[in-house]
Amino acid sequence: MKKEKIELIFTRAKLEELSQGEQELITNAQHAFSKAYAPYSGFIVGASVLLENGEIISGSNQENVAYPSGICAERVALFYAVAKYPEVAINTIAISAKSKTFEIEDVVSPCGACRQVMAEYQQKQGKNIRILLHSPNDEVLIANSVTDLLPFMFNSEKLRKF
Ligand code: THU
Repeated sequence: MKKEKIELIFTRAKLEELSQGEQELITNAQHAFSKAYAPYSGFIVGASVLLENGEIISGSNQENVAYPSGICAERVALFYAVAKYPEVAINTIAISAKSKTFEIEDVVSPCGACRQVMAEYQQKQGKNIRILLHSPNDEVLIANSVTDLLPFMFNSEKLRKF
């Protein structure tokens, strides 16, 4: 038996340390969360996807009285972006959130299903997706690849050899 250690790499930055473009992407995610439909959790989330063609596609969480029928902001934005531009790679996704009932103190952390969807598109495009996780106090946790958010991911390489 042997213990193994894996390294996950993140950068923690202040919002103002980011490039103008990345700050704008986060602003887009904040605008997106104001359009969320989250009457059950009061937790509103916005996600903005920057595509390689320069276009930004945003989404917000959409809840449903039948809870599992709702969907996270990240998947709304990612599915819309890829449905609109199936051949254009995703460069960056920025995520921001706010709660109507409590103060969020740390960055928003995407759920496992959203990480898996990010992993799928990163694998599909053969190019890393950068992820910006924003906190209400304007800290940003940055990952340069979905691999850092989802170690031991299941992807198409594991399903079959092309
Ligand atoms: N949610 C997101 O949209 N993205 C996340 O990263 C975390 C959670 C949504 C799902 C649900 O509508 C609400 O936040 C509470 O879980």
